Parts: sequence; structure tokens; C-alpha cells
Amino acid sequence: MNFTNGIALDGPAGAGKSTIAKIIAKRLGLPYLDTGAMYRAMALCALSEGVSLTDAEKVDELLNRTDIRVLYEADGQHMLINGTDVTGRLREEEIGKGASLISKLRCVRDKLAGMQRQIAHETHAVLDGREIGTFVIPETPYKFFVTATAEERAMRRVRQLEEKGEKPDYELILKDIIARDYQDSHRDYAPLKQAEDAVLIDTTHMTIDEAVETVLQALEAR
Ligand code: DC
Repeated sequence: MNFTNGIALDGPAGAGKSTIAKIIAKRLGLPYLDTGAMYRAMALCALSEGVSLTDAEKVDELLNRTDIRVLYEADGQHMLINGTDVTGRLREEEIGKGASLISKLRCVRDKLAGMQRQIAHETHAVLDGREIGTFVIPETPYKFFVTATAEERAMRRVRQLEEKGEKPDYELILKDIIARDYQDSHRDYAPLKQAEDAVLIDTTHMTIDEAVETVLQALEAR
């Protein structure tokens, strides 16, 4: 199979798309690009420089003087900001919220989407994100929208945190998930949205293996 323009997996936070995308990439021998990590790195950069995540002018100026790089090491994707590897800090809850905010800005989206487009075209990678199929590589015929109910996504997050020894509050997590979904799907520019020609994968009652098989079968059928 030839995935010239890349493979797009979009969907809300916690639907399982990054797990599925990583397995698909491995099975097909292609790179995997976590586009959320790029928004998270930019949010971290703005926060550490004291730049407001909603100030378009200041963020644009920050973008112009910041060197953002995606590197692939043996253990996967790394994000470098001005030569410093910031990968270890990107999964923090506050950085996720910051990424959702900063991603509303057109200047951020244009810059990062441009880098993502180039990586997709050069490496035929599997990209996971929010608007990959509608905005970053709409030309690819290989598009998936991976979702699950907010309640199921909250339960999964609770289980993940419990495994780490934490005592999470389900209601609070559910509220955060609903707020993030709303913010990601109601921004003016390139919101989270299922592409018309994307295959819908609802993982609410599916195992990861079942979801992976569904994606692989759909790829073969296209
Ligand atoms: O997938 P994630 O949780 O790492 O993404 C963090 C935020 O970044 C998400 O809430 C919205 C934004 N984002 C985006 O706008 N477009 C992408 N392709 C990926 C992430």
C-alpha cells in the first residue's frame, strides 16, 4: 500500500487514537507523529517565557524567535524547543489545557500545521490530532475519526491515574473532558471535526485490538 500523503487519525482527547495510531504505524513500518505534542511544546514554551496563551500578537512574536523541532529517537518522538528536549514535561495536565488554548491561535496553527504537512508528505507518517483530515492533509484518502463517549473516556483516565497510585475524582475529570471537547470543537479556525470522508471508529465498546483491526481493514479496502 502507498500512503503518499500520510494517514490521518483525528478525535477528541482520550478516545485511544494515539495508542491506535502508534500500533498502526508500527504495523505498516511508518513513522508516527503525535501532533498534540507540538501544541503542548508551544504551550510550555509560552508559559515558561511568561507569554499569555491568548495574546495572539505576543505568541506570534514568540513563534518567530523560537526553533521548534521534532526528532525521532529509538524511544520515539521528541520535541525540542530552542535545542532543549522538553518531551518529559509535555503530558502534565496544565500543559494539555494550555495546548488547547494556544491551539486556538491562527499563527500557531498555521506554523505547526505547515510542519506537520511537510512531515506527512516526506515520510508518509501516521498523524494523530484534531483536524489532520480536515485541515492538515485533507488530500489524503486515509482518514479516521476515533471517538468514544465522554463518560467512557473519563473512566479510562480514572483507571490510568489509579494505576499510577493516584486517587482521581471522576466527576472532575468528566467536567474537564467535556470542557476540552467544547473548546477544541468550537474554535473558529480548523476545529475538531470529523472529515466527511473519514471512517468513524467508536471505541466506546471496542478493545484497542479491535479498533486497530478495523483501521487496518479500512486501509486495505481503500
Ligand atoms: O492530543 P493532545 O491532548 O496532546 O492535544 C492537546 C491540545 O492540542 C488539544 O486539546 C488541542 C490541541 N491540538 C490541536 O489543536 N490540533 C492537533 N492536531 C493536536 C492537538
